[in-house]
Amino acid sequence: MNDISKPPVVNFLANPEKDHFIDGQWKPSLSGERVDSFNPANGRVLAKLARGTKDDVDVAVAAARRAFEGPWSRFTPHQRQALLIKVHDLIEKNYDELALLESLDMGAPVARTAGVKNWMLQVIMYFASQTMNCNGQTIQNSLPGNFTTMTIQAPVGVVGGIIPWNGPLMSQWWVVGAALATGCTAVMKPAEDASLTVLRTAELLIEAGVPPGVVNVVTGLGSEAGAALASHPGVDRIAFTGSTQTGREIIKASAGNMKRLQLELGGKSPDIVFADADLDKAVPGAAMAVFSNTGQVCYAGTRLFVERSIHEAFVERLVAFGKTLKVGDPLDPTVQLGPLISQRQLDRVMSYVSIGGKEGAQLASGGGRVGGALAGGYFIEPTIFSNVSNSMTIAREEIFGPVISVIPFDTADEALRLANDTEYGLGGAVWTRSVNTMTKMMHGIKAGTVWVNCYGVVDPAVGFGGYKQSGYGWKGGPQHVDGFLYQKSVCINGD
Ligand code: NAI
Ligand code: MG
Repeated sequence: MNDISKPPVVNFLANPEKDHFIDGQWKPSLSGERVDSFNPANGRVLAKLARGTKDDVDVAVAAARRAFEGPWSRFTPHQRQALLIKVHDLIEKNYDELALLESLDMGAPVARTAGVKNWMLQVIMYFASQTMNCNGQTIQNSLPGNFTTMTIQAPVGVVGGIIPWNGPLMSQWWVVGAALATGCTAVMKPAEDASLTVLRTAELLIEAGVPPGVVNVVTGLGSEAGAALASHPGVDRIAFTGSTQTGREIIKASAGNMKRLQLELGGKSPDIVFADADLDKAVPGAAMAVFSNTGQVCYAGTRLFVERSIHEAFVERLVAFGKTLKVGDPLDPTVQLGPLISQRQLDRVMSYVSIGGKEGAQLASGGGRVGGALAGGYFIEPTIFSNVSNSMTIAREEIFGPVISVIPFDTADEALRLANDTEYGLGGAVWTRSVNTMTKMMHGIKAGTVWVNCYGVVDPAVGFGGYKQSGYGWKGGPQHVDGFLYQKSVCINGD
């Protein structure tokens, strides 16, 4: 068991009342109100977050604007890079505390939160490298006379980062890292269910030397603080990760001042296993494509298409693998699956399990809550439905829990047609030994990322985005950084 009496976490939680972090300081909400935030492993209140309203968002946006126009605007690329390296080192030093805090706050096992350490540090270093990449071009022209034409890039300004609860320790960096790389400033609105690691990170950023006001955090409800940020006339760009439904609200709210948007939304990603695949890899690969983080992953491979000739045997092996997974206390380092985030999500996932049964899918394993010592938390068994049809509700809607729908198919063409018969397009995968099949799927799957003989592998230098209603804009890679920059063309008359 991990020791939660470790001083840093205890110190941070000694006072469970957590304020906003604005302009380098803790600031209570102007209304004085709070919202409870829970530990999903036991359902108890872990922290009382400041309940941000439009007034708090106004204060935070004003601080971000002042910082954007202040000394921060004169940081050179090299200075921003040096700062990001300091941030990297401080996060590395404090990582154990952050991982433990994240596990307490959102229920991911410490094996997972500690396991993403290197990846997260790589993301920060990637953004450190990108400070040197905010370049324009000199472009040849055919104008009469003596003109020089070029482009230059400039930071877009104040970025609102609205992020979900399924991994804020990591996902905040797609906003914070890019803002620090490009010279933007940020107002973060973490999810009401899991805000603590974002608050603690903001404090660490100040310790690393990031000027006050460059990264601010306003906590509270999406319908209040989130909506105020999304519609704020002083915010230039919103980077949002969350549900497709809220994504639509963000698009509407952006219209007032034509905010730039990056939206990473829901998914119902196809994971396609052909009979010729290396099943020793495909079985655990397909299982963890959904069970990781208790299914609370945007790109989870929840529609598992399996070639009919191996469907039955594959489901058996999948069930056997699922039974080896240890569900339990996130602070136990041997646990692989923690609880769902909240009572609301538990109810939602359980309702999909019951709909699956009613619509005729066969429950091959799981499907129940986990009781006993875990009954106080939001735990659910890894769940597998077999013989699912792609038209059933459980194959169409994002469940966001550890629920796999196995759908049999007969031919590659049929697999592709069914895989693309969805309103989403975030990820997709194919397991095969055939180059022909692999190539056909790689080109044919309509999704922002396709994995071949692996699942969920994401490098910070490689972009990650969506087709269709999974959103637009790019996370990772140089295109991500471009999203935080305006491009300006310049024409100089040399005569
Ligand atoms: P959500 O999309 O409502 O929440 C994400 C973030 O948006 C949170 O910070 C929330 O406070 C904020 N928010 C909510 N309403 C807002 C508004 N009107 N304006 C601005 N910000 C707002 O997602 P929720 O309700 O927590 O989860 C519901 C479902 O959404 C899940 O079951 C899952 O299917 C999906 N989801 C997808 C995620 C992904 O990574 N793609 C992450 C979280 C949820
Ligand atoms: Mg929590």
